[in-house]
Amino acid sequence: MNKIDIKTLKESAVSLFDDSWCLITAGDENSYNTMTASWGAMGELWNEDVCFIFIRPQRYTYEFTEKNNRFTLSFFSEEYKKALTFCGRNSGRDCDKAKETGLTPKAIDGSMGFKESRLTIVCEKLYYQDLDPKGFIDETLDSKNYALKDYHRMYVGKIVSAYTE
Ligand SMILES: Cc1cc2nc3c(=O)[nH]c(=O)nc-3n(C[C@H](O)[C@H](O)[C@H](O)COP(=O)(O)O)c2cc1C
Repeated sequence: MNKIDIKTLKESAVSLFDDSWCLITAGDENSYNTMTASWGAMGELWNEDVCFIFIRPQRYTYEFTEKNNRFTLSFFSEEYKKALTFCGRNSGRDCDKAKETGLTPKAIDGSMGFKESRLTIVCEKLYYQDLDPKGFIDETLDSKNYALKDYHRMYVGKIVSAYTE
């Protein structure tokens, strides 16, 4: 793994989330969970390099992002799309995602990531907020995305380290 300065990343953050997707992982070697995410952002806030992620409360991963101070974002090459699809359609409550996909979990800087990841970003939670339906200026977003009223919890995570494979 090569440690990188996140500011040297040449890829579009929009494409990383929207096209590559990522695994959000939280926990430690004894107990962790991971799930696929394609909604997120990377940028600058409070003079820190940060990532924003959005997790619905019913996800098993939510229990882990709540309990742990750190989470990781793992981005993979195209050949792992099937694995990410699996991790986005199944819950860690019902299966062992690493075993099912062949991904290799590994401890990284106080959290968990995966050996096969081509880019791993380790974040420390700074802030969270549940999306508030009153905030939708475009109200169609509410009806389109939240029929169950399961508003995402947004986490802002300070980027503490980043690694390429
Ligand atoms: C491409 C893709 C993107 C997803 N993005 C998100 C997301 O940003 N936030 C979220 O809460 N769920 C998202 N999901 C759904 C979770 O990955 C899915 O519900 C997963 O099974 C949760 O696993 P868990 O219960 O083990 O946490 C996405 C699923 C897919 C397939």
